[in-house]
Amino acid sequence: MPDPAALAAYEDQWSACPRCRLAETRTQVVFGSGNPAAELMFVGEAPGFHEDRQGIPFVGQAGKLLESLLGEIGLARSDVYIANVLKCRPPGNRDPAPDEIEACELHLFRQIELVEPTVVATLGNFATKLLSGKPHGITRVHGQEQQTTLGGRRVCLLPLYHPAAALYTPRMLQVLREDFARIPALLARRESPAPARPAPLAPLAGVGAAEPAVQLGLF
Ligand code: URA
Repeated sequence: MPDPAALAAYEDQWSACPRCRLAETRTQVVFGSGNPAAELMFVGEAPGFHEDRQGIPFVGQAGKLLESLLGEIGLARSDVYIANVLKCRPPGNRDPAPDEIEACELHLFRQIELVEPTVVATLGNFATKLLSGKPHGITRVHGQEQQTTLGGRRVCLLPLYHPAAALYTPRMLQVLREDFARIPALLARRESPAPARPAPLAPLAGVGAAEPAVQLGLF
């Protein structure tokens, strides 16, 4: 079961995280936001200027695009949980450094463990490489879901282009839109487990063995 109280307690416990050099330059830790029991979780790269100020991931232009793409598949920001690979802003919005990712990854894995999403959509290269455990870049793997184990549970990982990259590249935005359109089917797949096979019919007295269910047209 997802554990919203444990998630809030974890966020509180790490609100002054000292694990890497970004602690010296950030305004605040940007832990995550949204539905703490969401089926769908997004993982971006790192807080930017606005996120660092407001303490909420994806509040800038990329966040507006993310919200609009969510709207196109009938979801609101409050339906999903949004986090980043790094919880603190790298100065000047530079790329996350390998040692910063290593220092911060325990927070992301704990978030996944406590939220228990069934679909994790990675936004861009950093989240995709970290959570897939593979070096393949986003251009090669976007839109191709993969089953993997995260936070001790099987999840469907869906790599997507980062909205910030798609903002100014119409072709990439179109691909991101098409990849997004796959999300509802992935969520539905995880929500409807295969029906249990009925027990074989008991033989009727005097009629002999029952027909296999499949011959009776039950499947
Ligand atoms: N805002 C975030 O919170 N994360 C990103 O990766 C980009 C913008």
